[in-house]
Amino acid sequence: MRIAVVVGTRPEIIKMAPVVRACAARGVECLLLHTGQHYSFEMDGVFFQELGLPEPDVNLEVGSGTQSRQIAAVMSGLEPVLLERRPDVLLVEGDTNSVLAAALAANKAGVAVGHVEAGLRSYDRRMPEEINRILTDHLAEHLFAPTGQAGAILRREGIAAERIHVTGNTVVDELLLQRGRARRPGLHERFGVAPGGYALATVHRVENVEDDARLSGILRGLADSAAALGVPVLAALHPRTRGRMAALGLAAGDGVRVLPPLGYLDFLGLHADAALTLTDSGGLQEEACCLRVPCVTLRDNTERPESLEVGANVLAGADPERIVACALAMRAKPRDWPNPFGDGRSGERIVGLLLGA
Ligand code: UD1
Ligand code: UDP
Repeated sequence: MRIAVVVGTRPEIIKMAPVVRACAARGVECLLLHTGQHYSFEMDGVFFQELGLPEPDVNLEVGSGTQSRQIAAVMSGLEPVLLERRPDVLLVEGDTNSVLAAALAANKAGVAVGHVEAGLRSYDRRMPEEINRILTDHLAEHLFAPTGQAGAILRREGIAAERIHVTGNTVVDELLLQRGRARRPGLHERFGVAPGGYALATVHRVENVEDDARLSGILRGLADSAAALGVPVLAALHPRTRGRMAALGLAAGDGVRVLPPLGYLDFLGLHADAALTLTDSGGLQEEACCLRVPCVTLRDNTERPESLEVGANVLAGADPERIVACALAMRAKPRDWPNPFGDGRSGERIVGLLLGA
């Protein structure tokens, strides 16, 4: 069996690492295909380095651009690779443009698609990610749903039950594997904070960053939360967000320390000891839940309702007053919720299912 594993962006590299390792452990040939949607060292190379991943067999280097250009470049770049290398299955993870494009290219080349993290729905069709995940789920032969709820969503959409497997989320595998390494001596000193004495923030979602009112509201909310909580907010900002702030002349308020995107180990080490997470990231909602760090989600909806249901997460949107109220309420919560995202063996489960299939 030859498995092609596609990665394109930061979260895909992190969440596919356990699948790549599981292939190696089972002696399965793994073709690692990088679309190049993310390419800056801090969004790409650092994760290959820190997670010990092999160099990609192919990097399409599609880079940034309009969504259609990105999708078209991935499709036309992948076609000859798939026709020449003929993998038995092509795995994609999540909901980015790289995922939809690679799934379509595989389908057109007659290669079966497996979707890791299938069945997530925000029910907000304005999000590019929502369209990407719906289409990818309906193209896929093998659907690896992270939770029972995600699996049930797929069945309700008419996908045959035998194609759906509830595996847990590979984000848990990577977090559990790297957590010990991430807590390095001197980490907090390097960032000028003490364990438990800071909040951690990220912002990058297009509906927040490309909407001036929402971006200003979130930045105000972060600064006001720092003041209300009496702790600094470390904000590791995506290049898209830093670019937009520079273009609009927006600065972070007092108490917010803007950082570049961090490597996985620094980020995980800081996250594990944070008083609170404030984020619009999908992966962070899951990681915060696993680490038992309360999460305030800077969105009006989420495709990770499990984290809301166990009490680990709350939706605050982009209104500064609501962000502060949610930050205060979440910090006061007992951190005793169960982790609904899996047991850390999802990667090996996914590869095992493919080998048995
Ligand atoms: C993409 C995904 C999003 C995912 C996120 C993970 C889509 C539609 N969006 O959003 O779902 O949550 O990745 O982080 O696929 N840039 C750099 N260096 C890079 C990559 C991007 O500077 O390595 C800058 C460029 O200015 C680029 C902008 O960030 O135009 C946006 O990049 P893009 O890949 O289009 O979308 P993301 O916001 O990263
Ligand atoms: N992450 C990181 N450094 C950072 C911010 C995030 O390593 O500065 C990791 C984080 O631990 C998580 C993943 O990146 O595993 C989330 O990616 P992102 O928020 O870009 O995408 P999303 O999950 O929203 O698609």
